[in-house]
Amino acid sequence: MSPARRGRLVAVSNRVGPVTGEGAAGGLAVALVDALRETRGIWFGWSGKTGGSAESNRVRVRETAGLRTATLDLPAADHDGYYNGFANHCLWPLFHFRVDLSRYDPDEHAAYARVNALFARQLLPLLESDDLVWVHDYHLFPLAAELRALGARQRLGFFLHIPFPPRDILNTLPAHEWLVRALFDYDLVGFQTEQDLQRFCDYIEREARGSVSGTRVRAWGREIRAAAFPIGIDVGAFERLATAPAAARQVRELRARLRDRAQIIGVDRLDYSKGLLRRLSAYETLLERQPRVHGKLEFLQIAPISRGEVQAYRDFRAEIEQAAARINSRFARLDWTPVRWLTQAVPRPTLAALYRASRVALVTPVRDGMNLVAKEYVAAQDPDDPGVLVLSCFAGAAQQMQAALLVNPYDAAATAEALLRASELPLDERRARHAELMRGLREFDLARWRDAFTQALAAPARRRVRDLRALLRLPSATTESPSRSRH
Ligand code: ADP
Ligand code: F6P
Repeated sequence: MSPARRGRLVAVSNRVGPVTGEGAAGGLAVALVDALRETRGIWFGWSGKTGGSAESNRVRVRETAGLRTATLDLPAADHDGYYNGFANHCLWPLFHFRVDLSRYDPDEHAAYARVNALFARQLLPLLESDDLVWVHDYHLFPLAAELRALGARQRLGFFLHIPFPPRDILNTLPAHEWLVRALFDYDLVGFQTEQDLQRFCDYIEREARGSVSGTRVRAWGREIRAAAFPIGIDVGAFERLATAPAAARQVRELRARLRDRAQIIGVDRLDYSKGLLRRLSAYETLLERQPRVHGKLEFLQIAPISRGEVQAYRDFRAEIEQAAARINSRFARLDWTPVRWLTQAVPRPTLAALYRASRVALVTPVRDGMNLVAKEYVAAQDPDDPGVLVLSCFAGAAQQMQAALLVNPYDAAATAEALLRASELPLDERRARHAELMRGLREFDLARWRDAFTQALAAPARRRVRDLRALLRLPSATTESPSRSRH
């Protein structure tokens, strides 16, 4: 862990954990849990339960497997306005460039502010003076402002897991200034990619009339530091999952079922930002144009239902299920179902086996902060006989994964062509692309992301850090276009 680290790490996020069991094998939880255990820190957030009132609900501190969590039930109405409303019906679509789906409701905005204020009140008594507090994601923009108002003087960092939108889009939010200004109560603000950082800086310079100099950003009479910290995965853990004896058996069984068919896999929460409709349309285009692939490809989409209380998600679900059914009714044969659609969550070992048994992964969000599925798929492959990643240029991951087959998900014909090419790519090219992708995954893995952020947060306030990116050896920017890939 960071030599610069002095105090405990305290993580704050909407959801906490899981800390133990299969779920804990995944991503963020592992990265945070290791660092929290090492520093005897705390993970603070919503308990997952609603009920009671803001006055009566008390924070529950637990220690599980050496890790302390502090969780809080939220009053049902506040949770609805904060999570289903402002976070997921207003901010999420807007930050994924979907102004058309974004709804601003002042009551939901008020519930969001109330929940952040409640979090601050309940968190503050748990903090020690030299703690580093790391706040995660769009649910908690104003948490630092609420903590500061109560007198908190700890170093506070914020990491945005989702994209930062262009200024013109952000300006459609009636509360845009309130939201961005709240970031200036943090010491450090982190984004997934250089593009997100640039869009933030553009807002600051042109809308807030602030200034940017290296990683120092000034506005509203305050100065913070901001940088891109692309999140990675625990590569070794995923490789181990994919090569464990149980996974090897599952891969053999899956391949025996598929026989000479190549499986294409998609794994996404059922979310309109994941590009599922366009993905199906690209697959349909391929089936229309290339009858020779009938019976030779099988598309397995795993899409667990997400945020089912938000109307846009319910509408989207109905639409997508119709599209999958339409493809099957057009092309299915007695011995072949072109699309298999699963809505359940899959245990991580099974997920690793499914990735490894799939010739192609189709990861085509129309907008995504990073996209960890793309990274997990690559890490799960057999290096001697790897599958091929087809990746949207609008996923943050594309900035680091230029050896994937990059596609524009809005171009169904080009995506269909890339899919065909991926399914037929010769072994030597598959190996070369996989090796290059693995180099990137190992270099910018989850531990590095965590350490880079916490070191930057711990760096003394007055130290002259001219270029945080250079100091932390973070990757430089590339552009958002499939033509930048090397094919
Ligand atoms: P997002 O954070 O928007 O959901 P990511 O691709 O960054 O998108 O992360 C999704 C995470 O959820 C990945 O770690 C992936 O393995 C996991 N996941 C997605 N779908 C499933 C599923 N059906 N079963 C188990 N894990 C899943
Ligand atoms: O990637 C964004 C994100 O909100 C994560 O923070 C979260 O783990 C994931 O999407 C799932 O969302 P939710 O917590 O709303 O189910």
